[in-house]
Amino acid sequence: MNDDLQKRITEAMRDPKNLGELEGADAVGTVGNSDCGEMLRMWIKYKQEGGRKVIDRATFQSFGCETAIAVASLATELIRGKTAEEALAMKGDELAGELGPLPPMKIHCAQLVEGALRSALAPAASAIPSAPAAASSNSTGGLLENMLQPTEKPGGVRVVFLKPDAPKN
Ligand code: FES
Repeated sequence: MNDDLQKRITEAMRDPKNLGELEGADAVGTVGNSDCGEMLRMWIKYKQEGGRKVIDRATFQSFGCETAIAVASLATELIRGKTAEEALAMKGDELAGELGPLPPMKIHCAQLVEGALRSALAPAASAIPSAPAAASSNSTGGLLENMLQPTEKPGGVRVVFLKPDAPKN
């Protein structure tokens, strides 16, 4: 990772926006990456504005990787005021906002954020064929508390792991 990108990530990490659970959220999405063990949960709350249902607020919790946290911080700001469809149209590199293009080894960090967003906004669209369970949970519990609960419990958290990266040469 180049120094410039590291500086921008460090800057975003200095004051991450929208960290934590969102009281009264309308949607929740959780994803995990089986390669690096990173997990991310996103909460979404909508509001009516100009006859449209738009994202009023989005928050997140994450374990580990600072790039994913930096992207989630930026993404939760960028999707404010967008409809679910508009937010769903955004790809990982757009969600990374001012961090700019990420190096290949960090692209999956932005994809983790994209996956959590998809899981929250369109649970059916985020289903991954090889995954054993659906991607989202309407639980409003925190990521850590929910992870400690048995996944078989009705209404408990279900985490879908993103597809691993394409095989490297
Ligand atoms: Fe895996 Fe960042 S290193 S999400």
